[in-house]
Amino acid sequence: MNAPVPPSTRPPSTPPGPSSGTTRRLRICDVGLRDGLQNEKAPVSTADKLRLGAALIDAGVRELEITSFVNPQAVPQMADAEAVEAGSRAWRDNGVRRTALVINEKGYGRAKESGIEGIVVVAVISETLGKRNSNMGIADAIATTRRIIGAAKRDGLFVRACLAPAWVCPFEGEVPDSRVYGAAEAVLAELPDELVVADTIGHADPRTVRDRCRRLLQMAGTERLVVHLHDTQALGMANAYAAMEVGATAFDASVGGLGGCPFAPGAAGNLATEDLVFLAAKLGLATGIDLDRLWSAVELAGELVGRKVGGRTGTYRAARATREERRS
Ligand code: COA
Ligand code: ZN
Repeated sequence: MNAPVPPSTRPPSTPPGPSSGTTRRLRICDVGLRDGLQNEKAPVSTADKLRLGAALIDAGVRELEITSFVNPQAVPQMADAEAVEAGSRAWRDNGVRRTALVINEKGYGRAKESGIEGIVVVAVISETLGKRNSNMGIADAIATTRRIIGAAKRDGLFVRACLAPAWVCPFEGEVPDSRVYGAAEAVLAELPDELVVADTIGHADPRTVRDRCRRLLQMAGTERLVVHLHDTQALGMANAYAAMEVGATAFDASVGGLGGCPFAPGAAGNLATEDLVFLAAKLGLATGIDLDRLWSAVELAGELVGRKVGGRTGTYRAARATREERRS
């Protein structure tokens, strides 16, 4: 007779994921306009960024990270943050929630001044990456993040607090559990609306994703935890599934799998939004995003960066289109 399977490894009897009433839902925030484009050397115009955002909204995306208020010398692609914010204000009429990344108080001041409804405040929890990315050590990053969360909540903004890297640092290797949970506790004390945990360079694996997410879900609550994955080593989707298995209901992803961090060597593209939407559909989870329409946004993203982009669903789609062309 087989030994009973321990609960942690037992396959789910129903597809993983959240339920809301009778509909099981998966929330997806597209970060293509920020994480996706920030690493692109050739400038993408403000008008083109707005076209891409509009295409995502047309596909049904309702959460968008649109830009970052950081030093334009450090990230030239984000130098038009104020213009992107101003040009995208009407998106709110479609029920869209826009957020913009900030790292320091100056950035928060710019975000608040712009009138945007939400921010993502990032605490880099690696000494080496923190110094290179934002010129802050861990303690300083957590203290700054806590102050910014407090100020933004008082100012009535929607606040996502992000810990990065929450799995592996490109310079220091594994980020210990204790550091992630300690930082999570510190930022959650300021009551952000969401806690985002980022696998900045895409080195997490399903086992550590499951273990960490299980604990973080207990700390933050199901509605508040967001998992931000990169797909560097073919584990992006497996990691997303592992997070869903333990109850994660919200993810960041990027149209066409665009993405990377200029300060974190080896960071490949984000998990592709279209791949995640495809997986969700197969699992019977509603995302509100139409895959065919999303594909138009993926094609536009490729046009804007001047190369073919797209997650694995795109590879299949392109092969099918070629076969159909040959047949006709
Ligand atoms: N927006 C615009 N300019 C900013 C800024 C912000 N949020 N914060 C600082 N600056 C400017 C200062 O005005 C100053 O300009 P000056 O040289 O013309 O006087 C210069 O940057 C240096 O200011 P300082 O406060 O010493 O910043 P720093 O050198 O410690 O850099 C960051 C801190 C965070 C601004 C910078 O490292 C940065 O923008 N990094 C980008 C990180 C990023 O986007 N990573 C990817 C996502 S996690
Ligand atoms: Zn990222």
